[in-house]
Amino acid sequence: MSSKRVAVFRKEHFNAAHRLHNPNWTEEKNQEVFGKCNNPNYHGHNYEIIVQVIGEVNPDTGYVMDTKELSTLVKTEILDKFDHKNLNTDTEEFKNLNPSAENIVMVIYDKLRNKLNDTLTLKIRLYETERNFVEYPVD
Ligand code: NI
Repeated sequence: MSSKRVAVFRKEHFNAAHRLHNPNWTEEKNQEVFGKCNNPNYHGHNYEIIVQVIGEVNPDTGYVMDTKELSTLVKTEILDKFDHKNLNTDTEEFKNLNPSAENIVMVIYDKLRNKLNDTLTLKIRLYETERNFVEYPVD
C-alpha cells in the first residue's frame, strides 16, 4: 500500500504589538525602510498562524497527531508567550531580533519543532495581515 502520509492543520491566532527597527541605522533610514512599521510607539497586528503537521496515519488511532495535543502545544509554546504582548519589549525572543513576519515565523517553527516527534514534518504559515503572509520552511 502507498504511503499513508497526511497533512493535519491547526489554525490559531494571537494579537501582538511590534516595531520594526534596526538600531544600526539612523532614524531616517529606519523610517525609509520600515515606514509605518517603524512607528516608535509600536502598533498591533492580529496574527494568524497555520501549523501544518505531516506524518503517517497511526493505524491504531487513525491520527497523524492528536489535534488536541497539537492545540495545547501551540497554546503553551506560542500563544501564552506572544498573545497580547509587545514583541520587542515583552519577549526574550525579539529583544535583539527584529520582529518581522519572517523572523516571527522562524521563531515559532523552532519552538514547535523542538516539541514534536522527529517523524513528523512541520511547516508554519503566519499571516501578519490578510494580504501579507509568510511560510517556513520553504521546500
Ligand atoms: Ni507591523
